Amino acid sequence: MIGGAGFIGVAACKELMRRGVETIAAGRKERPYGTFTSYVAFDRTDESQLARALDETRPDVLLDLACYRPGEVQMAARNFRGARYIFVSTGVYPDLHGKPAREEDFVPLDGEPPAELDYREGKRWCETMLSRHPDFPWTVIRPPAVFGPADHTLRIAAYIQRIADGGAVLVPMETYEWQAGVAWVKDIGFACALACDPRKDADHKAYNASFEGVSLRDLIEGIASALGMPARLQPIPFAELPEGASPYGPDPRRAAGYVIDRARRELGFEPSALEDALAETLAWYRVARPSHPGYANRDKELALAGT
Ligand SMILES: NC(=O)c1ccc[n+]([C@@H]2O[C@H](COP(=O)([O-])OP(=O)(O)OC[C@H]3O[C@@H](n4cnc5c(N)ncnc54)[C@H](OP(=O)(O)O)[C@@H]3O)[C@@H](O)[C@H]2O)c1
Repeated sequence: MIGGAGFIGVAACKELMRRGVETIAAGRKERPYGTFTSYVAFDRTDESQLARALDETRPDVLLDLACYRPGEVQMAARNFRGARYIFVSTGVYPDLHGKPAREEDFVPLDGEPPAELDYREGKRWCETMLSRHPDFPWTVIRPPAVFGPADHTLRIAAYIQRIADGGAVLVPMETYEWQAGVAWVKDIGFACALACDPRKDADHKAYNASFEGVSLRDLIEGIASALGMPARLQPIPFAELPEGASPYGPDPRRAAGYVIDRARRELGFEPSALEDALAETLAWYRVARPSHPGYANRDKELALAGT
């Protein structure tokens, strides 16, 4: 598991070990044993290091949680000789303007990748490269924004701290009741573990994994209910939201969350209850008390809300 010591990687490791699967986590830093059966340190962007690590460990499945550029996919395809390569992608979908994204809404790109790629374009090109490898046994997992304990993006903390301070929470009026693109880290670990199962016919397929039917409104009301606070939602036009006020958007140009029927049908994926995800995440928040950078503009938001 390249990236096995990261946010999603640890959740995937736990789920795989629960299923009796030997896991070998990998990352650049040296780490003591802990959550993992074993651990190797190497930089996957250096092909000789990747080749040596794969040669030494000979994994049946390579779960790749640290692949961001098309060249890295190509290196994996050149060096991995096991039964399944699982690429953890993201929302690679084009603007769907409020339509929930189905896996087939992603269309591989034409031509060659440009030198400079942002995060989403990098993932699109990674998937495009995979689609050009009919003999390589690849599978793709596509999570949306993932939250849970130790969410280093702090996007979930942004909502928790606003609800906890009792003030209004600004949300995009166009989209806050749409299905949102969010998932619990434990569910994404579960989806990754399911995709590792060699009995699943998952070659050359992509799978969405997320909550189903959870809107930003549901998320905020769920947090408020768990905190015993009122949910003071204040809808305003998306274009007028201050930077960082609603890190999950949803941006009206984007998809309204995911359709997860394929993962449910073919992998046996089922998302957990939102309440369970929030209970665990709030337990972390109460101890860690992190602050999202956008919270620095809280005064401006409260002024906009007229409170
Ligand atoms: N978190 C989300 O909301 C989210 C949403 C959609 C998709 N995803 C995708 O899911 C994957 C995992 O995300 P995450 O949030 O778990 O990330 P993360 O916490 O940053 O974990 C990534 C791990 O990869 C390792 N790593 C990074 N570069 C490496 C390299 N060159 N060689 C070897 N190891 C390397 C890092 O360990 P070292 O520092 O030790 O190298 C780190 O532990 C990513 O591909 C991400 O794009 C995440």
